[in-house]
Amino acid sequence: MDVAEIRDQIPGLRFGVYLNTGGVGQAPASVSQAITAGYRQMTDGGLSPIDWYEAMSKAASEIPAKIADFFGADSTEVALTMSTGDGFVMVLGGLRWEPGDEVLITSEEHPVPLQAVQGLADREGAVIKEVELDHDKDVILERVERAITPRTRLICFSHVTTDSGTLLPAKEICALARARGILTLWDGCQAVGQLPVDLHGMGCDFYATNCYKWLLAPIGTGFLYVRKDAQQALKPLRRPHDPSASARQYEMGSPASVLYLGVGASLDFLTRIGGPRAIAAEASRKAEELWARLDAISGVQVVSSRRPETRSGIVTFAIAGMEGDEVSTALRQRWQIVQRGTYMTDPTGVRISVAFYTSDAELDTLVEAVTTLAGEAKR
Ligand SMILES: Cc1ncc(COP(=O)(O)O)c(C=O)c1O
Repeated sequence: MDVAEIRDQIPGLRFGVYLNTGGVGQAPASVSQAITAGYRQMTDGGLSPIDWYEAMSKAASEIPAKIADFFGADSTEVALTMSTGDGFVMVLGGLRWEPGDEVLITSEEHPVPLQAVQGLADREGAVIKEVELDHDKDVILERVERAITPRTRLICFSHVTTDSGTLLPAKEICALARARGILTLWDGCQAVGQLPVDLHGMGCDFYATNCYKWLLAPIGTGFLYVRKDAQQALKPLRRPHDPSASARQYEMGSPASVLYLGVGASLDFLTRIGGPRAIAAEASRKAEELWARLDAISGVQVVSSRRPETRSGIVTFAIAGMEGDEVSTALRQRWQIVQRGTYMTDPTGVRISVAFYTSDAELDTLVEAVTTLAGEAKR
């Protein structure tokens, strides 16, 4: 992969050191060009707003098939959403619940999915049970199995967690759930675009994500996968405009259709530079190197997994004697390194998102800065 050539196609990477793709990804120029060209059909092309609305809706209607191709699903299983939270609300609101039904979550869920599940507990009397994560996938599986009771209805986990970047054994968890008649809903937003995700192969029922992180598409875009057989159990929150048996029946109102042209462009870009496997291999190599370099600094603790089966491109570290936010602020102010502090890891630390487009020079700057801060913290 020619990283320098790829970086030339991503204008935002010219400024500072960007290590927060897990927050918001840096879009290639082709994404903004696709969206601008979409808008221009109205502003420069003479289409009336209503004709433009229809043209954009038609263009967006081709995106579920593209998403399905990229993620090993069928186009009838993909709904366009605005965010991960949007997809969660569609699933949690559209299933039938009895008070006392149990939902398993992990000990490291982002506030968006967490609050969606808490809302379900408030509305329907569902009981939330937390499974403590570990770097050993067998330990995770054992804990999931132990947490399951006859009342477990739904397993609702992050595919890759937001703070430590722990990759969960999703396929095994889905198999375990399926064998017991339990549904699975995944928060995929730290996984899609970072790792190859094969939805049919994974065997989940529902998979919700946004597209603005590792998929490098605009904020305001996302998708929800609903497995064909799970569509019987999931009721749309609005009576569908088009009551065909497709996941698009779950969509709410009129989305910002023009933005999905950006999703199409980002998927084309990711395919053109090598596709999910090449992207993951490039990021994984750099993340592993960074893990080792940070770990070698005195006073630094890497809190992310190093095990191949549970690690990802997210490398989170802590400096002894400093809160994560303090380290994060210093990296931003003194070295212009964009990253974010973590609050769910113990100790708190800083999350570094290593993407395929991350340069060696960026990682060198980070390692030097962390060495300086760790030295200062000791004095
Ligand atoms: C694991 C995880 N879930 C959800 C979100 C945000 O969800 P939404 O797409 O609703 O903004 C984030 C954003 O940082 C995240 O890391």
